[in-house]
Amino acid sequence: MTKIITEEDISDAAECLKKGGTVVFPTETVYGLGADAFNDAAIDKIYKAKGRPADNPLIVHIADINSLHALTDKVSEDCRKLMDKFWPGPLTIIFPKSDKVHMRVTAGLDTVAVRFPSNPIAQRLIKESGVFVAAPSANLSGSPSPTVARHVIDDLDGRVDYIITGCDCDIGLESTVIDMTGDIPNILRPGAITLEMIKDIFSNATEDRCTFSDVEKPKCPGMKYKHYAPKAEVQVVIGNKENTHRYIENQLIKHKNSGVMTYKGGDYSDAACVLSAGNNMNEYAAKLFYNLRVFDEYKVEKVFAEFAEEDGIGTAVRNRLYKSAGNNVIEV
Ligand code: TXA
Ligand code: MG
Repeated sequence: MTKIITEEDISDAAECLKKGGTVVFPTETVYGLGADAFNDAAIDKIYKAKGRPADNPLIVHIADINSLHALTDKVSEDCRKLMDKFWPGPLTIIFPKSDKVHMRVTAGLDTVAVRFPSNPIAQRLIKESGVFVAAPSANLSGSPSPTVARHVIDDLDGRVDYIITGCDCDIGLESTVIDMTGDIPNILRPGAITLEMIKDIFSNATEDRCTFSDVEKPKCPGMKYKHYAPKAEVQVVIGNKENTHRYIENQLIKHKNSGVMTYKGGDYSDAACVLSAGNNMNEYAAKLFYNLRVFDEYKVEKVFAEFAEEDGIGTAVRNRLYKSAGNNVIEV
């Protein structure tokens, strides 16, 4: 049975992690499903609880920079620059892995992904447990990452030992993943730490192609799977306010049981459900996964999502939204 607790009982959850159990905890990005990274049986429980393919590696979470030496033999000057600027926070760095890190965590890769979250509950859990916490997002494989406790419970109640409920996740999209093992810094998954922010430190930094297309073999294995998909069919609608409104209104006449995700306001009286994605891209990021799950709760068949191409975290929003729509995007 899953124990659903608050921060008050965090010591019980930390003890459980130490003994090889599974614990869901909030982070500033999305909720994570944690287990001891050095315990293969515990790691197996993560893959089983999520129904996650075994070739998709996990991020190892730490709560102090000194513990990094157990995961990688050499931390380059460039990595130090990133750590100084962005840790703790929503940036995952890929390092060459040390011999100690098990292949079960890295899914056979010779690199390891490491993140130092800023959320105080996450930090306390990692510190009190004394273990390295491998943690993917706390959703069933394929569905949108959970950003509120209720959505974690929907997916994982009965499948994990503990769920620590906390505040809703501020950022709402998973961390930026950056590969620092090649010649130049390369973003494999966009997030709240944007390419522009990385370029302030490394002007030659790049963003991987797999971010926006379904290439066969992305460097970030998780990017090849169908992701973030609600049960409803999603169509992204881009254009000026007037055109998107007219297009969606017309669609709603044809498709009765549809939802609309509005951006910067909008009225749709024929929709079965209208959810707002806010007024700027930070709000869109924070609400996207939440909204996708709420559309499913309303059992709508189609979702029309208003969207606008914007820089900054807009790149990460676009990446997740387009994936949730299976790249069904229309410009009107
Ligand atoms: O914000 C986050 O990163 C959340 C919270 C819980 O920290 N975690 C998260 O984990 O999003 P997950 O497993 O859902 O996504 C991790 C991504 C996957 O796409 C995986 O393929 C990639 O990181 N990844 C992990 N290790 C890697 C490695 N060594 N090389 C390349 N990609 C890696
Ligand atoms: Mg995930």
